[in-house]
Amino acid sequence: MAQFPSDFDWGFATASYQIEGSASLGGRGPSIWDTFCKLPGKIRDGSSGEVATDSVRLYKEDVALLKSYNVKAYRFSISWSRMIPLGGRDDPVNPEGIAFYRSLLEELLRNGITPYVTLYHWDLPQGLHDRYGGWLDKEEIVKDYVNYAKLCFDSFGHLVKNWITHNEPWVISCLGYQKGVFAPGHESNTEPWIVAHNAILAHAYAVKLYREQYKPVQGGQIGITLDCHWQIPYDDSPENIEAAKKGIDFKLGRFADPIYKGYYPERVKKIIDDRLPEFTEEELAVVKGSSDFFGLNTYTSQLVQEGGTDETNGYITVGHTRPDGTQLGTVGAKNICVVNPPGFRSLLNYLWKTYQKPIYVTENGFAVKDEHKMTISEALRDKDRIEYFEGYANAMLQAVTEDGVPVKGYFGWSLLDNFEWADGYEARFGVTYVDYATQKRYPKESAQFLSKWFPEHTSA
Ligand code: FCB
Repeated sequence: MAQFPSDFDWGFATASYQIEGSASLGGRGPSIWDTFCKLPGKIRDGSSGEVATDSVRLYKEDVALLKSYNVKAYRFSISWSRMIPLGGRDDPVNPEGIAFYRSLLEELLRNGITPYVTLYHWDLPQGLHDRYGGWLDKEEIVKDYVNYAKLCFDSFGHLVKNWITHNEPWVISCLGYQKGVFAPGHESNTEPWIVAHNAILAHAYAVKLYREQYKPVQGGQIGITLDCHWQIPYDDSPENIEAAKKGIDFKLGRFADPIYKGYYPERVKKIIDDRLPEFTEEELAVVKGSSDFFGLNTYTSQLVQEGGTDETNGYITVGHTRPDGTQLGTVGAKNICVVNPPGFRSLLNYLWKTYQKPIYVTENGFAVKDEHKMTISEALRDKDRIEYFEGYANAMLQAVTEDGVPVKGYFGWSLLDNFEWADGYEARFGVTYVDYATQKRYPKESAQFLSKWFPEHTSA
């Protein structure tokens, strides 16, 4: 039977604001998501991450669940405003926050689970947003982000060997500053390019610091996680073939090309023109080559047609209905939930060919349609999610064993049902059902499936 090599890591991913709760407890300062959730109409069910899955209090239960699922690794993110409540380099740190993450890390390690730690999964301290506009101010945000990263390396670097600087900067910039559907809710056609540029710089300077001062002693690796859905031309017309390439450049190349190759993609430059900031030579030297691996979040594939009004994707139109009326795959709760394993295999091949870096799939998962309306026992029989994971895991195994793509790890999204941003609690991505009234956790059938599948497909 085909198998991953013995050092292949697999597990589940989560993010601070989506699971921690205790948002106003333990000395944590507010983040832009706490503020955004209070704006009327922004969150589908009017909820917030104030309590979420209460994981600050229940972290030992979460680790026990991970252990029961036979995982080798766990990816979680640190809340910046739990570490430094106001966020800035001259602001006080929060000892309770540091103690919490240290306990979590020690609990993971005691259970033989390797931590993968994300520094920034969208929860910017509100203090920095108020003080200077957060991601919009290059000088300030780069310094404050690097200071925050340094605090994390100092506090946890002896326990963590796998660091991820940002989660999905496309979402930070486009959904937060262009479409306004995520925090901080701005709608602009210049800001997203400034924010994205500054996020790349903050990432790069944190990596520089880690490589110079921590890696030689701590011996870990550090990189960034980008998101992309595989882009399939709607038909074989030359304009739709070109549109699919443009879709990849607008979603992924705009970050991956500077970081791995040292320049912005031509297709992006052509459309964004002088709204695209430039790197100084000194900055470029820091940005180029600033990721030890390729962190990939991917959920589905999209059929792409040229034309449309959406600049976030370069004026293309995406969907999942083929010209003959059939769907790309089983459809779930959101437009990013459509089961299409062949697209995943193509994307992995594309990334390896284009960027030549080992790949970690840092998120991949599926929300079953209407699961939030089901009874608990109905929700636990999540056959569409099993179809998804079985298809994606096998596609990845083929990419590794047949195509020679070096995928080194895989994290299902998510360990738990949790606060799904603008969808509130109305989309459930967990392999564990969370009854929010009691905070009781119930493993779904997909959790049982993956706990067997990965050990069986990984050599001893
Ligand atoms: C990704 C996010 C993650 C989760 C999934 C469903 O874009 O990184 O936090 O919300 O989507």
